[in-house]
Amino acid sequence: MNLVLLGPPGAGKGTQAKVLNEGLKLPHISTGDILRDSVKSESKFGLEVKKIMESGALVPDDLINKIIEERLSKPDTNKGFILDGFPRTKAQAVKLDEILKNHPAGDIDLVLYFDSTLKVIIDRLSGRLVCRNCGENFHIKNVPPKKEMFCDHCGGELYQRQDDKEDTIKNRIKVYEESISPLVEYYEKQKKIRKINADFSAKEVYEVLTKLFKDEQLL
Ligand code: AP5
Repeated sequence: MNLVLLGPPGAGKGTQAKVLNEGLKLPHISTGDILRDSVKSESKFGLEVKKIMESGALVPDDLINKIIEERLSKPDTNKGFILDGFPRTKAQAVKLDEILKNHPAGDIDLVLYFDSTLKVIIDRLSGRLVCRNCGENFHIKNVPPKKEMFCDHCGGELYQRQDDKEDTIKNRIKVYEESISPLVEYYEKQKKIRKINADFSAKEVYEVLTKLFKDEQLL
């Protein structure tokens, strides 16, 4: 199964992708995570994208497309994958279709469009905590860690993402609103997009997704 997770920042794409990864045994490919790893490594590329990410803007299509092409060339994607945060522009979607023409996993099966209200998005982003060591997500109120500011899974220190500060959140939402329509139209034409109410709890959203996979005869 080849899935694309689309939606505003903070809608819960990463949270669901992690659970789907465990259930479906398909690699979770997050362009945001790949970029954050580059920033952490302080490579030339990492330093270049750091400023862009901290401003909430999108990294240029040609750079992102190269990253995805390289990631999808790895054999663990041959039986399917979960794309989280890619594509984000129509140019990226077109490139993805081009890559998949010659990919063993074939075309995209479903594009899951996480629909969430502004109030929920802001609440989720401003309260998000991430483990510095394993990348696990928590939330101050919704998913609090057992020990304050430490990861339940590996004991690593939790931190607030630089782009989860108020001003950057606003810009990320603006950038999202400017770029989403052409992408939705693109996948509507392909009849692949399914809208999901992402304001529900993580457990409820997961149940909606698994029912959808059954209805679409993908499970
Ligand atoms: P990226 O890392 O992809 O960020 P994003 O798309 O803005 O998405 P988020 O990770 O913020 O949110 P999410 O929907 O995954 O929510 P999560 O599950 O964490 O991108 C970061 C930057 O990288 C971009 O701004 C851009 O600069 C660059 N970039 C990345 N991809 C790019 C591309 N393709 N092209 C160009 N540039 C690119 O949940 C959020 C919080 O809510 C968590 O605390 C979680 O615990 C909680 N939560 C989740 N679900 C629920 C729920 N159902 N109920 C209650 N709480 C919940």
